Amino acid sequence: MNVLLTGGAGYIGSHVAVELLENGHDVVALDNLHNSDVEAVNRVKRITGRDLPCYVGDGTDPELLDEIFTEHRIDAVVHCAGLKAVGESTERPLLYYRNNLDLLMTLCEAMDAHGVRSLVFSSSATVYGDPGRVPITEDAPLSATNPYGATKLFGERVLADLAAASPDWRIISLRYFNPIGAHPSGLIGESPNGVPNNLFPYIAQVAAGRREKVLVYGDDYDTPDGTGVRDYLHVVDLARGHLAAIEHLADAYGARAYNLGGGQGTSVLEAIAAFERACGKEIPRQVVARRPGDIAVCYADPAAANRELGWKTTFTLDDACADTWRWQSANPDGFTDRA
Ligand code: WQD
Repeated sequence: MNVLLTGGAGYIGSHVAVELLENGHDVVALDNLHNSDVEAVNRVKRITGRDLPCYVGDGTDPELLDEIFTEHRIDAVVHCAGLKAVGESTERPLLYYRNNLDLLMTLCEAMDAHGVRSLVFSSSATVYGDPGRVPITEDAPLSATNPYGATKLFGERVLADLAAASPDWRIISLRYFNPIGAHPSGLIGESPNGVPNNLFPYIAQVAAGRREKVLVYGDDYDTPDGTGVRDYLHVVDLARGHLAAIEHLADAYGARAYNLGGGQGTSVLEAIAAFERACGKEIPRQVVARRPGDIAVCYADPAAANRELGWKTTFTLDDACADTWRWQSANPDGFTDRA
């Protein structure tokens, strides 16, 4: 299939591009480079030995989308583009609602105008809010505890209503748990702008000497070691979930959501210990106050994706730490070097 991949230069998008290209699909990438670097697309070409056009621009521009759908026979869309910082979303809610929802609806309008009605949507486990019980199944209650999570929740609702009104749409929303790691080649990985919000890129930068110590946000949660527990999955496994979804769409009318997670919980201290094994160094840390809005425990029940998409995680936490360390060591400043 010829797949339009929005956010194709991003952390998730670049890894999705590799899996699609390596499995015989063609990719047209679109990215506004707000939180990514076009070098990632060059690296995707190096990894796969295949070419992919990349449009630099915003998916909220209907004329750009019309140009892309006119220039290329697109069979399906994987929509990874969007703003994704939880903290920033609470400070700038209008920016997040405008951007993420406008992006999705403009894309769906362009798809419909060109008769393209197969879509994989990048959603998030944040649609579960503070889960009542774990592991979390797809029929768990949905709620949003921040504007970013709300844009994913509302996005899924827009798509469910679209599929109900137009039965020829085929839509899968993928609820990511916590993506970590980097492609084993060390050529692509997470390259956050500024100070990383998320745990793993922060640990990696401490290991590389770019940051002094890991601040552990609370050790008084009701968990085995008192620190927050999450479902960390390797980004290549996550990318393969998109491949499975795209290939499943062939006969999957309507709208469905699937958890993409490993199904087990890892604490902050366990994550740090795993990274110490990968880098062979001691990682300085300091326990500080809880981060506002954080929940204690969140991990997936991935049975539906296992059963219906034929997808499950294959990489271990230690694999992800080793791959992150290889990426961080070879690219200490992310994509700024043009090696
Ligand atoms: C993980 C754990 C923190 C940083 C977020 C988004 C979610 C998704 C993934 C987009 C928590 C602790 C963290 C640090 C710490 N993104 N922590 N020190 O919050 O589970 O999920 O990223 O879809 O939408 O909410 O991930 O990596 O920020 O935190 O102790 O410097 O690590 O308290 O327990 P989170 P995270």
